[in-house]
Amino acid sequence: MIAPDDDAADIPAAGADEPVSITAYPNGPLLVRGPFEIRTPTGVVIPPRRKTVALCRCGVSSLKPFCDGSHKAIGFRTEPEPPAPQPPLPA
Ligand code: FES
Repeated sequence: MIAPDDDAADIPAAGADEPVSITAYPNGPLLVRGPFEIRTPTGVVIPPRRKTVALCRCGVSSLKPFCDGSHKAIGFRTEPEPPAPQPPLPA
């Protein structure tokens, strides 16, 4: 089961014509919206089953790369503010 964080379940999914976005959810997963594709290291596509998925960033999910809500049980906490923007990488 791909389980976005319960607190994030009310966030609308992006439409197919919208760009992919990744949102770091406070104290929880990375929410990915839009026409994305997730692959294993060997290139096998992992069916997302939803237009919005939650990717684990606490490291304890039993459904990696997806969040299974375990971050709540371990009290996972993130920084209150995102890091400052970095300059673009050279081409
Ligand atoms: S972020 Fe939710 S289980 Fe890791």
